[in-house]
Amino acid sequence: MKNLLKLMDLTDKEIIEILNLADQLKFEKKNGIPHRLLEGKVLGLIFEKSSTRTRVSFEVGMFDLGGMSLFLSSRDLQIGRGEAVQDTARVLSRYLDGIMIRTYAQEEVEALAKFGTIPIINGLTDYCHPCQVLADLMTIREIKGNFRGRKLCYIGDGNNMTNSLIVGGIKLGMQVAVACPKGYEPDAALMKWAAENGEFSCSEDVLGEASDADVLYTDVWASMGQEQEAEERKKVFKQYQINDKVMNVAKSDAIVLHCLPAHREEEITSAVFEKHSREIFEEAENRLHAQKAVLVKCLRG
Ligand code: CP
Ligand code: NVA
Repeated sequence: MKNLLKLMDLTDKEIIEILNLADQLKFEKKNGIPHRLLEGKVLGLIFEKSSTRTRVSFEVGMFDLGGMSLFLSSRDLQIGRGEAVQDTARVLSRYLDGIMIRTYAQEEVEALAKFGTIPIINGLTDYCHPCQVLADLMTIREIKGNFRGRKLCYIGDGNNMTNSLIVGGIKLGMQVAVACPKGYEPDAALMKWAAENGEFSCSEDVLGEASDADVLYTDVWASMGQEQEAEERKKVFKQYQINDKVMNVAKSDAIVLHCLPAHREEEITSAVFEKHSREIFEEAENRLHAQKAVLVKCLRG
């Protein structure tokens, strides 16, 4: 595996291999067993959007693996002043061993991979968030033990998170159900693929989609870059919340996941968030372990 541009590029076997390595790296980290698998390697982190978890977990991850990272904000890079991504890719390929990029257009990530000669890892675009979903899958397996036949229900905006959850869930044999308002559905091509390759549904019926779910998932109503739509979205998404009513129709042992940051009393009530905080913060921790696995797979070839 050279790049991680989107989950659709990985086979189910490759996803499982990443999760297995992530589990091993988590065990080693918890037990003080060093794993300096990327000694001497340098990762560039290009951020065109804000981040807490992605930035910190990639930086700590590279340190744990014996390498180092460079935080490159687009505010400071020439890319922010219009230098072509093709040129940036060719220059950075001569200094670095890999790049993680968080940006708007998926095409920019694909262009970096096309023109660069080093591994490119997608740290979130408007289209998808593969690193997050690998950590989510790791968390689901850690708590539930398996994927096949489990029902994953996502409630809210059909955004980057939804797109990646659909691909990851279906590839590993989960039933994926999405509840979202009309006009805010996930990517149409991905929904078609999901329906053809597994058990998939998407409707405005929150309780219907959530019924018997093993995993409930939500994300913010307005993503980064949609700040000007936030007020309008509060009205559109009012019913698309994980609350006690939703929990009551899910399985009694259902877990709740959230990629974070969370907006309490919007997409999730404070009560449900706190009740399920153990899972949610384990999920956040697993970003570190899952990303280290991706780094090892990409940077060691
Ligand atoms: N979930 C996630 O990607 O968090 P950050 O935006 O803080 O990186
Ligand atoms: N959908 C959110 C995810 C943040 C991790 C966003 O793109 O802002």
